[in-house]
Amino acid sequence: MNWRDSTLESLAVDIWSALGEAAGRPDHPFRLPAVATTNRFDSHVRTVVLRQADPEYRRLVFFSDLRAPKIREIHANEQVQWMFLHPRQGVQIRATSSAMVYRQDAMAREFWDRLPLASRLNYCASAAPGSALPEGGDGIPPELKGPDLTAEALEGGYANFAAVACEVDVMDWLWLGADGSRRASVRWTGEKYSAIWLVP
Ligand SMILES: Cc1cc2nc3c(=O)[nH]c(=O)nc-3n(C[C@H](O)[C@H](O)[C@H](O)COP(=O)(O)O)c2cc1C
Repeated sequence: MNWRDSTLESLAVDIWSALGEAAGRPDHPFRLPAVATTNRFDSHVRTVVLRQADPEYRRLVFFSDLRAPKIREIHANEQVQWMFLHPRQGVQIRATSSAMVYRQDAMAREFWDRLPLASRLNYCASAAPGSALPEGGDGIPPELKGPDLTAEALEGGYANFAAVACEVDVMDWLWLGADGSRRASVRWTGEKYSAIWLVP
């Protein structure tokens, strides 16, 4: 993406195009964004894998263990902010969104079925993410490990699987160019995107 050419008219398309590319490319810097949630008292931020960026629904998706604290936070407050950084291009994108947790439904099932078996294992830990362990480890039952993973053996993990879909309302775009910086706010008005320049 050549961000130098981005205009107020093109920015929404440019951003969604970069995010869409990242969702399909494991080596893209936007593929590992930070996602922030808040409860009534404090905020938490963590790295996730960007699984889908769909401009039609203005939707960003990550996966999580249903038992993780972030899911409780989203249920308490659906406001979720994503932060994407491309260090080489000098671009930061902050996407403000409202999140929905999909579990045990058609959408969750579709994502689950497309997940490689090795990734499904991440949802098979005996206890919730963040639970104490007597010694370091991944908390996954030993009988699930080994070279002969099958979808059937890992199906128990589906009960712990959530796809978190976030509908984006505002994107704050910042580009630190070699000869000057630019920043813009791109807002969904209900019908289309409207962008304004901001002081970086
Ligand atoms: C490279 C990387 C990718 C990660 N991807 C995810 C992810 O896609 N989903 C997820 O729930 N956690 C992911 N994690 C772990 C989270 O950053 C976090 O530690 C964990 O989900 C617990 O978060 P919580 O306690 O805020 O719920 C990833 C961590 C790293 C280092």
